[in-house]
Amino acid sequence: MAIDRSPLFVHADAAALDPRDELAAGLLQPVAALAPKYFYDRLGSALFAAITELPEYYPTRTEAAIFERHLGDIAQALRLRLGAGLTLIDLGAGDSAKAARLFPALPLARYLAVDISEAFLQHSLQALQRRFPALEMVGLGLDFSQRLLLPAGLVRGPALVFYPGSSIGNFAPADALRLLREARELAAGGGLLIGVDLLKPEPVLQAAYDDALGVTAAFNLNVLRHVNRLLGSDFEVADWCHVARFDARASRVEMHLQARHDVAVCWPGGQRRFVAGERIHTENSYKWGVHEFEALLRDAGWRDLRCWTDPRDWFGVFLAFA
Ligand code: AVJ
Repeated sequence: MAIDRSPLFVHADAAALDPRDELAAGLLQPVAALAPKYFYDRLGSALFAAITELPEYYPTRTEAAIFERHLGDIAQALRLRLGAGLTLIDLGAGDSAKAARLFPALPLARYLAVDISEAFLQHSLQALQRRFPALEMVGLGLDFSQRLLLPAGLVRGPALVFYPGSSIGNFAPADALRLLREARELAAGGGLLIGVDLLKPEPVLQAAYDDALGVTAAFNLNVLRHVNRLLGSDFEVADWCHVARFDARASRVEMHLQARHDVAVCWPGGQRRFVAGERIHTENSYKWGVHEFEALLRDAGWRDLRCWTDPRDWFGVFLAFA
């Protein structure tokens, strides 16, 4: 019998920092910094979607090809180990498109979509529920970048934590370790399915984060418009330029905004001067080796690791059990 369901929505950000305090604190650090979550206002999300279509930006399509090719293997490993009736916990669900491609293959009872933007979830989950009426769906508005802790009662039985897209790359290794440990607590005896961008020749990385059309530059610069709205600051986009560079020692691509000339920025209760050439650090995107990421997973308590990559070994999809 088909049961008509509608998604449930939960908001869990009571303990979250006021964005104005977080933004001002970041701008007043010796090297000014903005957290990458602020990229994703409406235009920023659209620009990121455009990035994923760029010829230079290989991660999204490479990961999709790995899932397409190996989804049968992944589903079988999950079934053997965990049986049916899983809860899929989708971290940074966005429009839920990646998770939806897994639904037909995986033995799921429940879909828990977690995203910093609850408004975004409401829109996408309503439509998804109509396509998959038998799957129980919950949307959770939560910023898990500082701590991944869900309200009690949302996860019943073993869960599969799904963290695609190499968003884990935004975390420094120590923070990635903490997040993966918290994910293991969440999984309640279940598993983890995570996509990770791998180390590769520097020119490939450089082009992926500084594309010829300038879409990544627009994505980076757009954070200033978002900050202006949140903080009431007076950044002028034209005063800044996009910088992306690979730091081989830290194994990360860094994005910065560099002042084209001396700049003064004001906001209610604060101000900062930048000299020409001074930078605001806007993102780190760590690149991992397969063995290094497996060691990290083990360190976080995950066991029985599997890894699938593309023929060039540019991207890895890892499956692990709690
Ligand atoms: C969404 C964090 C995986 O690091 O590749 C894309 C964001 N920044 N181009 C990445 C991003 C610049 C992306 N992640």
